[in-house]
Amino acid sequence: MALLGKAVIPAAGRGTRSLPASKVIPKELFPLIDRPAIQYVVEEAVAAGCDDIAIVTAPGKEALAAHFAFDPALEAALRSTGSAAQLEAVRHASALGPLTEILQDEPRGLGHAVACAEEFAAGEAFAVLLADDLLDERDPALATMMAIHARTGASVVLLIEVPRDKAQLYGSVDALRVDPAALPGEGGIPSDAEIHHLTRLIEKPAPGEEYGTLAIVGRYIFTPAIFDALREVGRGRSGEIQLTDAIDALARRALAEGGGVYGLVFRGRRYDTGDKLGYLKATVQIAADRPDLGPDFRSWLRTYVENRGDES
Ligand code: UTP
Repeated sequence: MALLGKAVIPAAGRGTRSLPASKVIPKELFPLIDRPAIQYVVEEAVAAGCDDIAIVTAPGKEALAAHFAFDPALEAALRSTGSAAQLEAVRHASALGPLTEILQDEPRGLGHAVACAEEFAAGEAFAVLLADDLLDERDPALATMMAIHARTGASVVLLIEVPRDKAQLYGSVDALRVDPAALPGEGGIPSDAEIHHLTRLIEKPAPGEEYGTLAIVGRYIFTPAIFDALREVGRGRSGEIQLTDAIDALARRALAEGGGVYGLVFRGRRYDTGDKLGYLKATVQIAADRPDLGPDFRSWLRTYVENRGDES
């Protein structure tokens, strides 16, 4: 089965929810313990088989690609001080690169950021991963999404189940459950995978306008037809080019014309680092699970919470 080689990571947004910390440091570079958020998603893309990765960046966000660049002076210094673990950590990050940089000159929305990757995609299907939406590496989803794409030829998005009163925060989807065994071809999809065929999507619906409780999160596989769809939809809500509007256009289009959209429901561990509380929770959860820090951190955290009593 052909795996997708290309992945695009849009990271050119303003990060307004994380201001003032994101004024100079891109929120995609905020550390979760000792790795910046973007490194987690690049590692996820590589683990799923992507070997050609691009970051969509903005003027002033050069540090994003620099994080993955080879730094011979730093490596030489670590070699001479004998810090083997630190040298390995630095080498690991640069071995993930170099990444292709695609410039989005102005933040005109996630849809526009994806549209900027048309030349990079060069007529092939590609994955899109958002760096403020982290999936725990123990719960991978991208490989199954790739298998759904390989077997159907359609685009694929990742879905989560949300409470109805939170549907306004996401892209909401109208969906029909599909038995994985009924998809063409074979292999690559666990038999218990919850797959839906999407018929309509709406971005951040007003209360009562949502299609249900399934919502899109930041993993996508697109056929090249997404670029025509993005051109068709133009500027939507708040003057930005909305990716969800273009996915809605694909969902209404026939498979033979590059259309068709499937959704895979994700029930694993996920960290939304784009807002302050989500970022804080992600840091605590990742630290608590790390073999090197977890035991001490969990014991400190338990004492800390107990000592605070019920001040909560
Ligand atoms: P978000 O909406 O989470 O990021 O977009 P944002 O716009 O930077 O943050 P807020 O809402 O103002 O706080 C998801 C991803 O898409 C990228 C962002 O960098 C983020 O990683 N993005 C968003 C772009 O690359 N370009 C855009 O025009 C908008």
